[in-house]
Amino acid sequence: MTQYLPEVEAIAREAGALLMGYFAGHLTIEYKGDVDLVTEADRASEKLIVERLRARWPEHGIVGEEGTRSGPGADYRWYVDPLDGTTNFAHGYPVFCISIGLVRKDEQIEAGVLYDPTRDEMFSAERGQGATLNGRPIHVSKTKKLAESILGTGFPSHKRHKNPNIHFYHQITLRSHGVRRAGSAALDLANVACGRYDGFWEFNLNPWDTAAGALLVQEAGGRVTRFDGAPFRLDSREVLATNGVIHQELITNFEEIFAGRGLEPLPSPVEYAKSRS
Ligand code: IPD
Ligand code: CA
Ligand code: CA
Repeated sequence: MTQYLPEVEAIAREAGALLMGYFAGHLTIEYKGDVDLVTEADRASEKLIVERLRARWPEHGIVGEEGTRSGPGADYRWYVDPLDGTTNFAHGYPVFCISIGLVRKDEQIEAGVLYDPTRDEMFSAERGQGATLNGRPIHVSKTKKLAESILGTGFPSHKRHKNPNIHFYHQITLRSHGVRRAGSAALDLANVACGRYDGFWEFNLNPWDTAAGALLVQEAGGRVTRFDGAPFRLDSREVLATNGVIHQELITNFEEIFAGRGLEPLPSPVEYAKSRS
């Protein structure tokens, strides 16, 4: 018996309907940083989710991306990303979701719900009970080799000039069937959980991006660590999630890329331009 899922799913579904209302209409966009967007929909969704969680579990703490901070010493804490994929949303690109994760005081993730309102897909997991998509059990893929894998990654919208991920994107693209960059880290993790992706990695994510998705991957039979294989923690700022089978191979590839070994050089645009004339 799951303890939290039906009620959290109902909250996520309600927030999803609210987001779709904004998605269909005119949106006011603001900037949190140079290219870090926030919309009235992010705030309205967080308000709704927080009100519902507080009403049902007043003893729990809540951390929401758009500013909610309550119950710092509580035994359980909800991490809420009221709209993961804001840049997509603001541009009318239908790849975004709501992500809600429940974490124990000792940082163990207890439950996670991730709802994609554009496809009406509800991903849910409670520790020790498996993961589901619209009520049906889901499992990670069985792909055995990186060379036969499709993966996802993402790039941050703040301090992006300091992020080395373009090198990883380049090298892993050349060593696999391809790397997608869809713009919603939470959905990327859900896609690993249900076997659409064989793996996903990203630098500098926050707990509200990863709490629900990391549990989904684990409960679907996959593995989630830091880039060197060390245990994943919500404050790790590195996440590598795979079907488990290709995990060690990716860690080895990451080691090589970090060490600058065996890298395919990036083709020069200057040389390319010369070859055109
Ligand atoms: C972002 C998305 C994106 C990832 C960024 C996140 P937001 O979250 O998950 O895929 O690359 O690092 O910040 O801002 O849309 O909630
Ligand atoms: Ca996010
Ligand atoms: Ca967000």
